[in-house]
Amino acid sequence: IGEIRVLGIETSCDETAASVVAWRDGEMPRILSTIVLSQLEEHAAFGGVVPEIAARAHVEALDGIVEAALAEAGVALSDVDAIAATAGPGLIGGLLVGMMSAKAIAAASGKRLIPINHLEGHALSARLLDDVAFPYLMLLVSGGHTQILLVRGPGDYARWASTIDDAIGEAFDKTAKLLGLPYPGGPNVERVALTGDAHRFDFPHPLKGEARPDFSFSGLKTAVRQAATAIAPLADQDVADIAASFQRAVVETLADRVARSLERFRNEYPQAKSPTLIVAGGVAANGPIRAALLSLCERLGFDFVAPPPALCTDNAAMIAWAGIERMRAGLAEEGDPMAMAPRSR
Ligand code: KG4
Ligand code: ZN
Repeated sequence: IGEIRVLGIETSCDETAASVVAWRDGEMPRILSTIVLSQLEEHAAFGGVVPEIAARAHVEALDGIVEAALAEAGVALSDVDAIAATAGPGLIGGLLVGMMSAKAIAAASGKRLIPINHLEGHALSARLLDDVAFPYLMLLVSGGHTQILLVRGPGDYARWASTIDDAIGEAFDKTAKLLGLPYPGGPNVERVALTGDAHRFDFPHPLKGEARPDFSFSGLKTAVRQAATAIAPLADQDVADIAASFQRAVVETLADRVARSLERFRNEYPQAKSPTLIVAGGVAANGPIRAALLSLCERLGFDFVAPPPALCTDNAAMIAWAGIERMRAGLAEEGDPMAMAPRSR
């Protein structure tokens, strides 16, 4: 068989992205192009993603981004075997734009449309660069998600843990806002925390030590607000100390929570030769979080795989790759994709 090439389209949040990925049996996949247009600046003034603005920006950008992805890959639409597009979860406006556009391209070119669940894109993304064997655990930490998935294969997942309230990235973004730091909050909290005293405040560690494997972050946010209000107006050093103390609480809580699922994996797959934890999502860019996960994995005998930030955050290469994984697994021919409607949840 020749090479399979898939065009991927991702529009579920505030990134408009397209990519072409190629794969040949017995070889590692190749990312022929990956283009990501971030709408960060359009949303920064509002301190978060505004769905209406996002949907309009996707409409304006998508055609050009798809053309650019094909051009950079050096392929015509006729050289592509299928179109993979994110069908959910995400913001419904962006999903509609992406799916409508993918359906139009599929109809016009006579190629198959493969609807992709955004979480499946993240879950399989590590296999673009590493030959990670199933089953493995995936920790997704982003602005919208905090969960651990058991990945048994394409289309075969079990959710082992998830947040009972806020997503971890949301906690970073809200803390940043309270401290007067610009959006997106995560990188700015990490930056100012460098000069802060992480032990000045003892913020709560929600669910720490409990047997259930889930996450919780809203109590932490409340504690940060109380601390900030109590000492307002905040001097630069106060901001740095709160950021550092917040980040310490997040890191310690996260490590404790993730340990539950690693232990469960050990129990359920005692024969696994190289148990692996993969991390994805924007929060995976955080240095102290990566370091804590790495040392946790070393302690419990897990391989730790953290794809480069460009593959960890939202992108279309992971969507194209999920399409290829589905084709390989014989899952791409199911149902009538042209009749499929995007779903926000
Ligand atoms: O995966 P992502 O780019 O988009 C989605 O949420 O889908 O993740 C964005 C989130 C934001 O909440 C942002 O504040 C957070 O990731 N983030 C970070 C860091 N870089 C991005 N959080 C903590 N530390 C960072 N260095
Ligand atoms: Zn995502």
